[in-house]
Amino acid sequence: MKTGQASPGQPAGGVPIVALSGVGKRFNEGLPNEARVLRGIDLTVGAGEFASLIGPSGSGKSTLLNLLGLLDRPSEGEYRLKGVPTGTASDDERTRARLDTLGFVFQFHHLLPEFSALENVMLPGLMRDGAFTPAIRANARELLSAVGLSDAADKRPGELSGGMQQRVAIARALALAPDLVLADEPTGNLDTHSADEAFALLRRFNRERGCAFIVVTHDPRLAARCDRVIELRDGMIERDGPVAPTPGTAGADAWTKPAK
Ligand SMILES: Nc1ncnc2c1ncn2[C@@H]1O[C@H](COP(=O)(O)OP(=O)(O)OP(=O)(O)O)[C@@H](O)[C@H]1O
Ligand SMILES: [Mg+2]
Repeated sequence: MKTGQASPGQPAGGVPIVALSGVGKRFNEGLPNEARVLRGIDLTVGAGEFASLIGPSGSGKSTLLNLLGLLDRPSEGEYRLKGVPTGTASDDERTRARLDTLGFVFQFHHLLPEFSALENVMLPGLMRDGAFTPAIRANARELLSAVGLSDAADKRPGELSGGMQQRVAIARALALAPDLVLADEPTGNLDTHSADEAFALLRRFNRERGCAFIVVTHDPRLAARCDRVIELRDGMIERDGPVAPTPGTAGADAWTKPAK
């Protein structure tokens, strides 16, 4: 396994949270409509990193995130999660690894409409522990407070604005203190102000709790505010490197070539 090399922010000698080696993904394998969507992906992301994943529509960003999130399996190559190969893991083991290590934010909040904001944030705890314990409730309250929604704890998602719903979803993603949050266009459905607010929350959770993020975005402004940019094109990593820190260079010009 490749440890301690290649990835920006990867501590020397540390085990990456995720490490993909030669990963490919085909849909409809062996059929006339087979689609080769990812090819030769080598990628490591270490503790506390804050990376964007960008690329044209159809380049494979969501497919890659689904593989990293153990929601789908590669057609080839190896995926190690915290150093442990995932290829031979059972579905139960994959579910457990997902709960222990990963958090998810999607473009649409996917909150359960019949549950309050607080209960939605408690749900991952229920899935892990099998009951709503006082500790799970206290943790969910603390997270709702951290996203500025203490007053909305008892409201249902339908009573909240889109930006507030997404902040609840962000709190839910953090509920089990994941090592890595996978966010697929988390601000794609929000107005600019709400998008900035939601993105700032991700950044703050990264800085304050050390949680790593991979954020898929079509917004060059937001990509420029990440530490690292991974760019996919036609299912391959075209570019991977740190974002230039120079102010006023947001967008494509803000990237630097990887130092490989
Ligand atoms: N289940 C599937 N079966 C067949 N093809 C698929 C499947 N899922 C995705 N694809 C194809 O894989 C390619 C990559 O899709 P993916 O959703 O990963 O792109 P994306 O980069 O996330 O795009 P967008 O920016 O539009 O969300 C597309 O051509 C898509 O049609
Ligand atoms: Mg997508």
